[in-house]
Amino acid sequence: MTRVFSGVKPTGHLTLGNYLGAMRRWAAVDQHEAEALFCVVDLHALTVDHDPARVRRLSRQSATLLLAAGLDPELCTVFVQSHVDEHARLSYVLECVATDGEMRRMIQYKEKAARERQRGGSVRLSLLTYPVLMAADILAYGAGEVPVGDDQRQHVELARDLAVRFNQRYGHTFVVPRATRPGVAARVMNLQDPASKMGKSDDVGPGIVYLLDEPDVVRKKVMRAVTDSGREVVYDRETRPGLANLLEILAACTGGEPEALSGAYPSYGALKKDTAEAVVEVLRPLQERHKELCADPGHVEGVLRAGAERARGMARPTVDAAYRAIGLLPAAAEAETAGAGAVVTV
Ligand code: TYM
Repeated sequence: MTRVFSGVKPTGHLTLGNYLGAMRRWAAVDQHEAEALFCVVDLHALTVDHDPARVRRLSRQSATLLLAAGLDPELCTVFVQSHVDEHARLSYVLECVATDGEMRRMIQYKEKAARERQRGGSVRLSLLTYPVLMAADILAYGAGEVPVGDDQRQHVELARDLAVRFNQRYGHTFVVPRATRPGVAARVMNLQDPASKMGKSDDVGPGIVYLLDEPDVVRKKVMRAVTDSGREVVYDRETRPGLANLLEILAACTGGEPEALSGAYPSYGALKKDTAEAVVEVLRPLQERHKELCADPGHVEGVLRAGAERARGMARPTVDAAYRAIGLLPAAAEAETAGAGAVVTV
């Protein structure tokens, strides 16, 4: 059975982009068809200026929203990254396989580092090495597929490169993963700035639909979406990015095709109205379930505890194998359990 790994970073409130680009498919497809792990990747939230209390709050909220979106702990493993040491353990070893040039080429690093510098802040070293930790997240579990939105594809490519390189140098250890993406809405754009991704860490609230936005707030945001000059509703990402974004959101929410839907609308206003209602309807069950889960925080904690235990058991053998392959002496206890690894030849 294919193993699947993916995650969300608790740096802000989760958005419609996170849901349509990733989470929805995790619940609808991946957890049923694969041995799937979904993770709140809290270590990644420390790569930019952060408030510890907020990261804790957002980690809890992200985990609750993953369950509210339909992840079922009977079908998949839901856990918090920092509860499983293997991620950080493997990350260091992979840093010894990656190059600094590779890290500096990462688009997200370039964009985020430029933003930090513009604000007059300094860039944390962990922002540069972040994609290696992400590779460790994936490779530790032998995940063959990584369902993500388009913005994460370059990072998954790096995980592939590192897996291949490690296997070539030190012997076959890692499964080589590949990114999978949704058919539509793999890159939901900011409603106020259709040239930018709808990102949870951005400050431009009016263009971002959060999963916990009240229906009226959703309606207002969608109705005020920036569209392009022109009157005809056509689907063209290049010349009509605002309109294309709305059509993709509508298609993702209703199951249609953006191109086919464009013909059904006489005006921008009608399209916005239907898109707003479609988003409200998609979010409704998730918000109801979120409310129920918030009333029972013990349940969420229990899920995370059990999830971390299961995840640890899955990651440990691969990370131990990577340590041995790269030349680190097995710890005594491990050598005993590994049996064959107890005799070390130089
Ligand atoms: P993050 O937290 O930014 O996003 C979580 C998932 O949501 C997708 N996504 C989007 N999809 C479409 N349109 C958007 N506007 C949009 N915004 C976000 C992302 O592509 C992602 O799939 N580095 C990752 C977290 C991570 C991870 C991993 C993912 C860490 N380790 C290992 C997969 C495997 C991130 O920051 O995602």
